[in-house]
Amino acid sequence: MKKLAIGNDHTAVEMKRELIAYLQDKGYQVINAGTDSPESFAYPVSGYRVAKMVVSGEVDGGILICGTGVGISLAANKVDGIRCCVCSEPYSAKLSKQHNNSNIIAFGARVIGTEMAKMIVDEWLQAEFQGGRHQIRVDMIMEIEQTQKLKAAEETGV
Ligand code: RB5
Repeated sequence: MKKLAIGNDHTAVEMKRELIAYLQDKGYQVINAGTDSPESFAYPVSGYRVAKMVVSGEVDGGILICGTGVGISLAANKVDGIRCCVCSEPYSAKLSKQHNNSNIIAFGARVIGTEMAKMIVDEWLQAEFQGGRHQIRVDMIMEIEQTQKLKAAEETGV
């Protein structure tokens, strides 16, 4: 993963800024898809932006930060193909990649500090999806998207 997109709301401007610098120092290309203003900013906007960049292949992965990480991850997970996991510690972040093949990691600027955020991002970026039985389960998750489309098509007759 070399090219990343990062999105945030007004609660996470400073954490986002520090993470961009941290990742750039490590050689990552980072696209800033969030707000840089302390003015109130609706987290679904940047959650959606980053999610679209990930599914289009414009970036290799995404990082999302709001107050808790919850709202922004919910928004991202509405986009087909996204597996965004909220993690407040590195163990879950690592496993979210190894077992769930997460393509976006999220956390809360009001929940964890910047040093913990860096550890979470490091573990996530270093981890690799393990495939095998995990692939079957991830496929099952992604099939739910298709099931919803089939249901909608049946209901509308399209
Ligand atoms: C903003 O006040 C807050 O609701 C947002 O940052 C986030 O925590 C939502 O899930």
